[in-house]
Amino acid sequence: GGRRMGFPENFLWGGATAANQYEGAYLEDGKGLNTADVLTNGSHTEARKVTWINKKTNKKGHAPVMWGEKFEIPEGAIPAVLEDEYYPSHTATDFYHHYKEDIALMAKMGFKVYRLSINWARIFPNGDDEHPNELGLEFYDKVFDELEKYGIEPLVTLSHYETPLNLSVKYGGWVNRQLIDYFERYSAIVIERYHDRVKYWLTFNEINAMDLAPYIAGGVLDPTPQNRAQAAHNQFIASAKVVKLAHKVDEKIKVGQMLAFQPLYSYTCDPVDQVKIMELNQKMLFYSDVQTGGKYPEYRWKQYEREGIVLDDSPEDYELLAKYPADFLSFSCYGSSVFTTHQEEAKSSGNLGSNGVKNPYLETNAWGWTTDPECLRIALNTLWDRYRKPLWIVENGIGWADVLEDGKVHDDYRIKYLKANIKSMKEAIDIDGIDLLGYTMWGCIDLVSAGTGEMRKRYGFVYVDRDDQGNGTLKRTPKDSFYWYKEVIQNNGSEI
Ligand code: BG6
Repeated sequence: GGRRMGFPENFLWGGATAANQYEGAYLEDGKGLNTADVLTNGSHTEARKVTWINKKTNKKGHAPVMWGEKFEIPEGAIPAVLEDEYYPSHTATDFYHHYKEDIALMAKMGFKVYRLSINWARIFPNGDDEHPNELGLEFYDKVFDELEKYGIEPLVTLSHYETPLNLSVKYGGWVNRQLIDYFERYSAIVIERYHDRVKYWLTFNEINAMDLAPYIAGGVLDPTPQNRAQAAHNQFIASAKVVKLAHKVDEKIKVGQMLAFQPLYSYTCDPVDQVKIMELNQKMLFYSDVQTGGKYPEYRWKQYEREGIVLDDSPEDYELLAKYPADFLSFSCYGSSVFTTHQEEAKSSGNLGSNGVKNPYLETNAWGWTTDPECLRIALNTLWDRYRKPLWIVENGIGWADVLEDGKVHDDYRIKYLKANIKSMKEAIDIDGIDLLGYTMWGCIDLVSAGTGEMRKRYGFVYVDRDDQGNGTLKRTPKDSFYWYKEVIQNNGSEI
């Protein structure tokens, strides 16, 4: 046969969201609070905070939480919703009451797939409840009905930065092995209910966020290195157990890992800098070495030895990991970051607030995130070479303070960013022969930013009328990129 070029015919084009950033309706139909529901909004320069209360002294306060800043909730205090505070997740952009309209818009763009998360605390309001909340399940019944109507394949994240708050308060979050059981209980309920409608599942969103933001990633209130290591271990075991149970329920189901990935560049050619980059890569890829590769890498054991970290584990844990690795590897990738051990260079930022230095070759948005035209090809090659498992780009996109004028948003900067990224992804298929399942652009309909809590950091193809104080009609307006993406899907990326 001739040479096949371009995206495979069944390539899954679409978009992605997360419940806590999109649904709102934070207490409706029996939903419990989750870790995101006690997060205030911040900005590029100010961290989001967890609000807390000490019920004995009635003292209240804030603890900065994003990303990598020192996180300290005082002894005796618990995260809680306080009066006179604004919490962007509570209404978000109200997918809960707009799902029909929003899914119709996705269908209009020709989406083949829609990545959403199930809000764990809708199904198990306290996380440790014995029985699920039927009303919570009914909401997702309706969402999946709607997707089915348009032939859109769902891709479901089981836990996207939204651990039920009670699991954090009562058990200390994912540090506690009991969460493995609660997560398994929740996963079994939704996988059994939806297995003939949902073929693709992801366990933990950006599992490596445990290194930088353990409260966000796993409701961890006391983020010592020991606790982070244990919480990650517990999520690995939970993930393996979900792979096992999903295959038992339905062998057609695929359960993927979700990793936050970014290519890392050295600022200089000093070998010391190359070693730094190598070590930073290990820090990131440790998570996929275990969850997708099925085995703890030696470099991590050595690190634990040096740091005196001892896991609460058992030999069965490692059998599970080896026997039930993820079926595919999905990842987020927004841009690249640059590091050096040398003199202070101009700082820059990126996904998970990586504290790198500015790349003189690349443009950034107002939050310091780069547009890197080689980024996805590099990411795909790195991960393909290491695991040889199908890959899926489940987040990519650009945050921008879009302006709505005369019913239009002219987001040519977004089209430019996406063009460069889709081209890079296409090269990984055409030049390198990588097995790529799909692409879901992040925040396809405007939603709350996870990093800053802002509304003004918008990603969508569709503008939602809502601001950082919670004003706005929630009206939906397609941006210029909406019509552009529709064509990309129609042509299966052949014009890029
Ligand atoms: C990823 C998360 O970190 O990047 C999403 O999985 C998040 O939840 C996305 O929204 C973009 O980051 P931000 O901070 O701009 O919302």
